[in-house]
Amino acid sequence: HRPDALPRDLEGVRVVVSAGGTREPLDPVRYLGNRSSGKQGYALARTAAQRGAHVTLVSAHTLPLPEPAGAEVVRVGTAAQLRDAVHAAAVGADVVVMAAAVADFRPVVSAEFKIKKTARDPDPVALTRNADVLAELVAARDSGALPSEQVIVGFAAETGDSGADVLDHARAKLRRKGCDLLVVNAVGEGKAFETEDNAGWLLAADGAERPIALGSKAQLATEVWDSVVQLLKR
Ligand code: CTP
Ligand code: CA
Repeated sequence: HRPDALPRDLEGVRVVVSAGGTREPLDPVRYLGNRSSGKQGYALARTAAQRGAHVTLVSAHTLPLPEPAGAEVVRVGTAAQLRDAVHAAAVGADVVVMAAAVADFRPVVSAEFKIKKTARDPDPVALTRNADVLAELVAARDSGALPSEQVIVGFAAETGDSGADVLDHARAKLRRKGCDLLVVNAVGEGKAFETEDNAGWLLAADGAERPIALGSKAQLATEVWDSVVQLLKR
């Protein structure tokens, strides 16, 4: 995308984008993580800035990526740090896009010192639940703690399984989360993770559903912002 080819329809709009994968420490040198590259979140931040938005990018771990020009980048490690940074940035935001892969669980204890190998078999790793940042944002908006007109966008990477297909899972997730838009990536068969291209659906809270053609992450970002611009006009 050439920046001069993009509309300036996000001029003055304050957006927060979270990106990358959180890392939950087990000890000073080990963590539970995920395969998120951060590419989709960075593409969303870059496109928004090119369309005139004021962008705060809350970045968890990513592959080496260029910083999106014009975005303010806040770096975080754990899901708890991401939660604090997103809530702080969301206070003055018109749009929040949760593209980060946030760990659902973290180890109950993070050992102060490196866990050593001994003659004994290891203990299982006990996990506890992390806060659901997206659901918290929706609850905060609905209770008046965040701007009532704020647009909140979630992401979901889904596979079909024996009980339901990708869209069934995605529709249920949209209802459960209460966000305005859910960007659904169909994963599996080499799609989405660590690749350049996505394919999926854009589901809106009003029931509108649009397929997203297989294309670049910049193209997906353009489609997401097009939909957000429509929601901001309401
Ligand atoms: N998310 C979040 N906080 C979490 C987990 C997820 O804000 N602790 C956000 C993600 O950034 C994403 C959306 O919620 O925008 C959906 O994440 P996903 O992992 O697909 O949803 P879950 O409710 O965790 O469901 P699942 O059991 O499929 O992992
Ligand atoms: Ca999850």
